[in-house]
Amino acid sequence: MNNFELYNPVNYVFGKGQIAKLSDLVTSKKILLTYGGGSIFKNGVYEQVKAALSGVEIIEFGGIEPNPRFETLMKAIEIIRKEKIDFILAVGGGSVIDGTKFISATVHFEGNEADILHKRILFKDTSKVVPFGTVLTLPATGSEMNSGAVVTIEATQEKLTLGGSALFPVFSIVDPTVIESLPKRQLQNGVVDAFTHVMEQYLTYNHDALLQDRIAEGILQTLVEIGPKVIENPTDYRLASNFVWCATMALNGLLNKGVPTDWATHMIGHELTALYEIDHARTLAIIGPNLYKVMFDSKKEKLVQYGKRVWNLTGTDEKIAQKAIEKTTEFFQSVGMKTKLSENTENYQETASFIVNRFEERGWKGLGEKQLVTLDKVKEIVEMSY
Ligand code: NZQ
Ligand code: ZN
Repeated sequence: MNNFELYNPVNYVFGKGQIAKLSDLVTSKKILLTYGGGSIFKNGVYEQVKAALSGVEIIEFGGIEPNPRFETLMKAIEIIRKEKIDFILAVGGGSVIDGTKFISATVHFEGNEADILHKRILFKDTSKVVPFGTVLTLPATGSEMNSGAVVTIEATQEKLTLGGSALFPVFSIVDPTVIESLPKRQLQNGVVDAFTHVMEQYLTYNHDALLQDRIAEGILQTLVEIGPKVIENPTDYRLASNFVWCATMALNGLLNKGVPTDWATHMIGHELTALYEIDHARTLAIIGPNLYKVMFDSKKEKLVQYGKRVWNLTGTDEKIAQKAIEKTTEFFQSVGMKTKLSENTENYQETASFIVNRFEERGWKGLGEKQLVTLDKVKEIVEMSY
């Protein structure tokens, strides 16, 4: 097992009715409440937040888009600077929470704000960011319990990451009943995003971190068991609560401890969202299985383990590994994904060369757990996804 440090300061508050705890968790007298396109006004979440914060002065900042835009977030930063606000409450899905992480990092940043994304500046000093808490409304990204974020620069169609240990939420309130109002499409996205987060940290090569593998397989098996059901029955609390916890556990920094990680599916997928605005999870369903095919030789041992333990496959190793990829695609399709790029957008023909050029400009010459996802492999993976 590789050496590691495990640091996660998030006060994770889980369960029915927990939004009321905001009255204890928020100690500032004046806060910025960030939200998205308005779903929180239709499902009762906003009322619960307001009721819990009756004594707090709240300035609202709405309109944070899915795949949050740098240009929009800069407006919130101006408000915080002007109004001297010292706490932010993000109420929404991954996009609102990610956007809030960018706002938190940028308020006291001196310099060109786009550099935070272009130069991947890490934020480690909590005294230099604005503290924030979250009320999660969409289980998928794990953003409620991690310190990473993804922000899109509209002007250049770039989707880039930021993060650092100062960007963990102070607390996150996670009430599984919030998924009752989610459109089916977003529930489907949540299952596939969480599943792929586990795969990125699991489907690499054999190593000695036995417990990490078993935790990863436990999350994958639980998602296979409950994913299709929760999409049809989001009001079933047994399903909802397990789904939400799976999504958090898939990317709260626990699975990657002591093990190699891949993340190439995400890196390629982010380009598809930047170019065509395809939902994040849907890009993963398009790219993931094709990446496993192209990288078959280096991932074969792990594919066999995955096939045996998660899908109960038997036969020769070669057959199990191949069948495991097929099973993954079938699972994604069974939860509503269209796994070809051409089923998600029309003008896709130049996509592979565009992405390869971009990665080359950024110096990303070898992605994945062994840096074996070279530019020619990226081209092959994307073309196979057409
Ligand atoms: O904007 P509103 O009106 O709130 O509506 C949202 C949005 O339209 C809606 N929604 C959210 N909760 C709802 C609801 N509708 C009804 N009832 C509810 N309870 O759902 C739509 C999608 O929301 P969004 O926040 O965009 O989805 P998600 O949580 O999947 O976040 C996706 C973003 O997170 C990034 C993605 O790249 C993408 O930008 N990711 C962040 C990660 C991280 N921070 O660790 C990791 C991920 O791999 C991912 O890259
Ligand atoms: Zn993801």
